[in-house]
Amino acid sequence: MGVRHRLFFSWQTLAILPHRLPIGVAGQRRSVASKMSEAKLVIEAPERNKEPITLVLQDVLSEKFGADSSLKALEVASGTGQHVVHLGQRLPKVSWQPSDMEEKYLASISAYVKESGAKNVLDPLMIDVCKPVSEWPGKFSAASLDLILNINMVHISPWPVH
Ligand SMILES: C[S@@+](CC[C@H](N)C(=O)[O-])C[C@H]1O[C@@H](n2cnc3c(N)ncnc32)[C@H](O)[C@@H]1O
Repeated sequence: MGVRHRLFFSWQTLAILPHRLPIGVAGQRRSVASKMSEAKLVIEAPERNKEPITLVLQDVLSEKFGADSSLKALEVASGTGQHVVHLGQRLPKVSWQPSDMEEKYLASISAYVKESGAKNVLDPLMIDVCKPVSEWPGKFSAASLDLILNINMVHISPWPVH
């Protein structure tokens, strides 16, 4: 795909259909909710699977790169941002670049990133994986990434995304 990533890690929880799970907005009491918490989407599946995914990823990264390596990761289709902030906290040696193609998810990711205060999780980029890498924002070059992470996108996507 033009990026010499060293690892592509895709997690598909086929038994779970996240688009059917309740999607809610944190801070339902609008009188006290800030704009940031209104943007923050909460989905049940990522809350449930973020730690199991972290544990698998921890093993995979440790085996492939060694336990203490500083790594650069791009997450495509980050969705709400629940995974990436958790990964940022649990795998602090990895610098995480979240992304998605939908505005509502970009706003949600931003809100999670700001709230977490994590220095190793960047603001999200709008990336449509159907587009060529040369058109992605962020200037990804041949050596810029160690890992591309994708969680629960492939099974809900049309063939061009694959
Ligand atoms: C089922 S959600 C999964 C989100 C998140 N990874 C998770 O597991 O909670 C699918 C995600 O894929 C994104 N998506 C679908 N088609 C895409 C594309 N062509 N490029 C980038 N993201 C895409 C959607 O915007 C959505 O955030």
